[in-house]
Amino acid sequence: MDWLEELKAAFAQEFAQAADGAALEQLRVKYLGKNGRITKALAEPGGAASAEALLEIRKELNTLKKAAGAEISVKAEQLRQSAIDAAELQTPRYDTSLPLRLEKGSYAPITLIQREVEAIFESMGFTVEDYAEVTDEYNCFEALNIPPYHPARDMQDTFYLENGQVLKTHTSAAQNTIMRKYGAPLRAVFPGRCFRNEAIDANHDNTFFQMEGMMIDRDISISNLIYFMKIMLSEVFGRPVKVRLRPGFFPFVEPGFELDINCLICGGEGCPSCGHSGWLELCPCGMIHPNVLRHGGIDTEQYTGFAFGLGLTRLAMMKYGIKDIRDLNSGSLKVLAQFV
Ligand code: DAH
Repeated sequence: MDWLEELKAAFAQEFAQAADGAALEQLRVKYLGKNGRITKALAEPGGAASAEALLEIRKELNTLKKAAGAEISVKAEQLRQSAIDAAELQTPRYDTSLPLRLEKGSYAPITLIQREVEAIFESMGFTVEDYAEVTDEYNCFEALNIPPYHPARDMQDTFYLENGQVLKTHTSAAQNTIMRKYGAPLRAVFPGRCFRNEAIDANHDNTFFQMEGMMIDRDISISNLIYFMKIMLSEVFGRPVKVRLRPGFFPFVEPGFELDINCLICGGEGCPSCGHSGWLELCPCGMIHPNVLRHGGIDTEQYTGFAFGLGLTRLAMMKYGIKDIRDLNSGSLKVLAQFV
């Protein structure tokens, strides 16, 4: 049948030209979709002189249908894989055991990742705010719905100064000041150095970096939160990363969540960096508690908002494959040499 040969040739030609996932999907719809050319031909094969010929045509069409579907799937997977490989090639290889060859300086990994994430949020209409490292108990705890007797304070033991001030334990400490500064609506991210009285190991340090974000407006919901986090993480890693949301408790959000990403160091198998769980807690988040909005002078009848506390240090470890958090504050030139 001429038309059958034409159909095969047309598919083969367009298949060869399809260069990305979207083009392949279009091709699939065009030939194999509900109104696709092959589907339609199967329903009304036309041009057969006899019942046997008709059977033969149907058989050929079915073979074509199967082959076309399989070819499209295989090519789509190959394209997806090579996109991942290309993204991995761009990720610098981190290996501090190599001999030091440092002819010029470099930015520290935290600075690199911070700037990258800032730029992503700026492109989505967020401002970037600065905040002090020394603050008071009101900003660090009370304004965040953590009164003095609250057990949540135990989780964030910090360093108290003689005058009663504290080294901030989290970037959330800036929330109140920023709400008071801008009022609603508001979109802001605020990176910063945080301090905790921690036992130090490969995954914990007494000094680390977070980036807090807040979006306050009318009708803000968890969907907005998930959308912004997904966009940001896919941009940072140059590919879609796996995430999971678990319920999490933080007095300043309700509901609260833990957003985890799969450990990119071990690929989710379990290693010391992820506490052998395959997942890394990257970003606790939630809907801002009305008490916190009220402390910030925001009208809770009109506005809702989400907040998140992104672990910048952990994000840098993930992105650059740094296995030990202690490298980051070590001041070692061997660490900086990885980023020249
Ligand atoms: N400040 C919290 C911490 O360091 C993290 C956090 C949790 C920040 C939930 C948030 C949030 O903005 O919504 O443990």
